[in-house]
Amino acid sequence: MEMFVVQGGSPLHGSVRVSGAKNSALPIMAATLMSTGISQLHGIPHLVDVRTLSKLLCSLGMKIERNENDCLQCEVVSEHSTKAEYELVRQMRASICVLGPLLAKRGRAIVSLPGGCHIGHRPVDLHLKGLQALGANITIQQGYIVAEAKQLKGTAINLTGPLGSSVTGTCNIMAAATLAKGCTTITGAACEPEVVDLGCFLNKMGANILGLGSAEIVIEGVEHLTEAEQTIIPDRIEAATLLIAAAITGGSIQLNHVRPDHMKAVIATLSEMGFQIECSENSISIQSHGKPLSISCTTKSYPGFPTDVQAQLMALLSLAEGTSRMTETVFPDRFMHVQELVRLGANIERQGASAIVSGVKKLNGAHVMASDLRASAALVIAALAAEGETVIRRIYHLDRGYEHLEKKLTQLGAVIERLQDEQ
Ligand code: UD1
Repeated sequence: MEMFVVQGGSPLHGSVRVSGAKNSALPIMAATLMSTGISQLHGIPHLVDVRTLSKLLCSLGMKIERNENDCLQCEVVSEHSTKAEYELVRQMRASICVLGPLLAKRGRAIVSLPGGCHIGHRPVDLHLKGLQALGANITIQQGYIVAEAKQLKGTAINLTGPLGSSVTGTCNIMAAATLAKGCTTITGAACEPEVVDLGCFLNKMGANILGLGSAEIVIEGVEHLTEAEQTIIPDRIEAATLLIAAAITGGSIQLNHVRPDHMKAVIATLSEMGFQIECSENSISIQSHGKPLSISCTTKSYPGFPTDVQAQLMALLSLAEGTSRMTETVFPDRFMHVQELVRLGANIERQGASAIVSGVKKLNGAHVMASDLRASAALVIAALAAEGETVIRRIYHLDRGYEHLEKKLTQLGAVIERLQDEQ
């Protein structure tokens, strides 16, 4: 295993390019299961999750290759297999994205139920409810979802769950409905930019989808989908992580290849904390002026403050002036990072789905353990500001979703090394 060793205290300066969005890349790659010909995807980040999904898609009869221009080429060469094995699915929950496309195109999908998750309870009932509404017969057999339907049929589906809309649930049902007979209306649809990106790609493949970006999506089924070409949107979560990293070090950086219009809640929150933010169409710059102000922040589905930035913001709040409250409404148990931030000297108390963060004067380097993808990013951010050396173990979580994070941070002046963890 590998670990990061971070020497804190260097303010970040300079500019850096944001990578393509992981959460857009994964469902778009899965959607190519429904195409004929070779689809070309640009800007797919080099990530462990992308490699895991590529392996899964290859096991389902696809050929996936990066060409010399770093474009991912995806082609279905055999439609024989319909089973997404546990061994691959357990490595990444987003593997569930193959369920809708596989069922719609091949009439049958056997997908391992994704296992437990460190960020809390993550059921797939909305995915199953949506596919059943489209006419699929679904059973659970030996830990696998077995979904069957010769021909899906369009219908009205409400995908609102007890905790709001589901991002990958919406992706799955929208993708499956493109090949259904007749019209499907999804209410309670997720409005995330990644859902819109998938919808645009499906439309390029020949689908007929309206209402993308709203809570009501209307899909007129078509008979077949062809190959298409798409450039993935910039990763708004990586962008937010880098902005917060610069903010906590008292630095000033510029992000290029970024969509400020996808990041309004994050930009508003950082502005409220006293950071100066300037945006152009595809760049954002941030400047720090002294200690950040404390705030109250609640995570919500898009366009609200993203749950995927909650941990990183909490690291920054731990050094704010006064007491902040962070409330998590999307994954109410997503607080694994709290104990590790406390090891670095933060003063955080958990109160149900909230964390009360009392700002401290400084953080101190320590040995900490990454528990999930975004919690790992929060530890890196805290370590950049901590006095002395921080060792972060289990960074494989980070490699699932951040492309070359330590290289980008080093480019901005951070002192961070990736070493073999002998323990
Ligand atoms: C996606 C993102 C993840 C992000 C999350 C919320 C991908 C690959 N992952 O995950 O990074 O943190 O959105 O923005 O895009 N729920 C149900 N039943 C379901 C499905 C979800 O009750 O069938 C609940 C979940 O437990 C959670 C809420 O709905 O409380 C939102 O989850 P969801 O949007 O589905 O998350 P993912 O799509 O898995």
